[in-house]
Amino acid sequence: MSDVNEPERATSPTTRDAATASDAAATASGAFEPRITAFVCNWCTYTGADLAGTSRLHMASNVRIIRLPCTGRIDHVFIVKAFERGADGVIVSGCHPADCHYTAGNYHARRRFGVFRELLSFMGVDPARLTFSWVSASEGVKWADVVNETVARVRSLGPFDAYHGLAGAATPADDPFAAYDLPGEERPGGEPALRPGDAP
Ligand code: FES
Repeated sequence: MSDVNEPERATSPTTRDAATASDAAATASGAFEPRITAFVCNWCTYTGADLAGTSRLHMASNVRIIRLPCTGRIDHVFIVKAFERGADGVIVSGCHPADCHYTAGNYHARRRFGVFRELLSFMGVDPARLTFSWVSASEGVKWADVVNETVARVRSLGPFDAYHGLAGAATPADDPFAAYDLPGEERPGGEPALRPGDAP
């Protein structure tokens, strides 16, 4: 077990096969299928996930990956936004300690997410919905285990929809920049509020 609240994970093929069989049975029975968003660093975990795919390892298909330069780039708001936009669980994963390609980004992330777990509880999100892990470029098997175990754990917790109403209220589907508007804000002359990318 790592020093970052990383859950114990099995690495035996038997356990992975069992997880895959469990996923297949759940899907066949119409059981709840969690949506998992994974924020991963480009240099280690993304490559490890790619290796898991090219190695044709069996993994649950519930995870959508968002690639970032480093775990040090991952902001707390990204995770809250993921839950707000429909995720039932989130994975954050990057290089092992001392392997960060930006020297110390993963140390910053580790400190940040130690605190953030408590903040999640305060915000009404079960911290068990958040998985923090180190996966190197050569650990395709470990990535498959992280995915399978996260999906199984979040499936047992059930859907997370406490924030979905917030997303709908703040960000209509046809206006992705609505959240940037301040209430009542207008350009001079009654034009719509400024948005990212607008000419001044
Ligand atoms: Fe992977 Fe920093 S480059 S965690």
